[in-house]
Amino acid sequence: MRHPRSDELYARARAVIPGGVNSPVRAFRAVGGTPLFIARAEGAHIIDADGQRYLDFVGSWGPLILGHAHPAVVAAITAACRDGTTFGAPCAGEVALAERVVSAYPGIEQVRFVSSGTEAVMSAIRVARAATGRDLIVKFSGCYHGHADHLLVAAGSGLATFGRPSSAGIPAPFTACTRVLPLDDEAALESLFAAEGERIAAAIIEPVPANHGLLPQRQTFLDRLRALTRAHGALLIFDEVISGFRLAPGGAAERLGITPDMATFGKVIGGGLPVGAFAGPRAIMARLAPDGDAYQAGTLSGNPLAMASGLATLEVLTREDGWPRLEALGAHVEAVVQPLLARARFPVHLVRVGSLFWLSLHEPVAPRAAAPLASAAVERYGRLFHALLAQGIYFPPSAYEACFLSLAHREADIETLGHALERALESAA
Ligand SMILES: Cc1ncc(COP(=O)(O)O)c(C=O)c1O
Repeated sequence: MRHPRSDELYARARAVIPGGVNSPVRAFRAVGGTPLFIARAEGAHIIDADGQRYLDFVGSWGPLILGHAHPAVVAAITAACRDGTTFGAPCAGEVALAERVVSAYPGIEQVRFVSSGTEAVMSAIRVARAATGRDLIVKFSGCYHGHADHLLVAAGSGLATFGRPSSAGIPAPFTACTRVLPLDDEAALESLFAAEGERIAAAIIEPVPANHGLLPQRQTFLDRLRALTRAHGALLIFDEVISGFRLAPGGAAERLGITPDMATFGKVIGGGLPVGAFAGPRAIMARLAPDGDAYQAGTLSGNPLAMASGLATLEVLTREDGWPRLEALGAHVEAVVQPLLARARFPVHLVRVGSLFWLSLHEPVAPRAAAPLASAAVERYGRLFHALLAQGIYFPPSAYEACFLSLAHREADIETLGHALERALESAA
């Protein structure tokens, strides 16, 4: 399939934007070819600059849980922007969305809005350090928490994709207070907490890691993490930027029955507009300025359009029984895709949690901790990706990225995926 208009835009973009993109994975480097420039989108479909239509399983990497341009979200944003796009002063939408988040998520009493997941995590960690008076942060290899300097260590797909464990431009002292542990490994947890437990301010984890493929953790591992952090007076932060309001109203915390001390959000709570949030009990959040001594601020934080978009998204999800429907859709993906994978001529496994799914090309089984893919598997994913694209299916342009379902996907769309995938598996073999 040719994409002359996308090719032309990409050539112009490369001249004035580094790598031609404003976020690296968009560049198709991990699958080859030139990225599609998207002109518009509706429901479960995106339409590129050449007018070609694709069934979308990326969903802008998570925010679009209702699908693209949902009428209720568009109406809410349109109404909000008629009243002004930003005030730099409080507005009612912030209160309403905060009340909604606080009432849905276990253990939190206050939430502050920011403009991205990166900011949410960065700020949560600052508050955690202020509240505990400790410096060390524990993260898990393969989990991505945004691109703040001290967290850009062993940080998931974007970096795995490029085969780099970390990033240039980060002085070693900036990550000196970060400890990195493997997922799925209680012994490593025990020994770090035994050695440094009293210096640890917080452990941060994606409770359902979804940035290095999809790596659902054993309940006993997560329970141990909860117990150890509590025993050592360290805070447990669930990074729910992907899972928050996607897996359940109370995110992965609700699904797993584990209450963290703090949580971070993004994506779904902004319904496609730039939003992040971090939350916790009043006693911790009170450390924030203006009440407390931990500084944090943002010109566009709590933006009225973003609040309206997030509120409309959560209202539709609730009103339309969104979570059970997404679970049923995910189960349908399993029913359709699993038998195809079983017949594939190479190892490929479906991993699914609710409306997130991932085709793992690891051998012999899908991993539970971050593991590099063999280069042959990466190449095979590239062939699979392009074979799907040629049939009008837009999958993530990296073997390490999960797929996202939305309420706009129909069972018939999953059948369409099945037919295309059957052929794509054949041509990728
Ligand atoms: C779990 C998690 N945390 C944080 C972030 C950073 O969010 P943002 O890209 O909005 O800065 C992401 C982004 O994908 C994420 O998946």
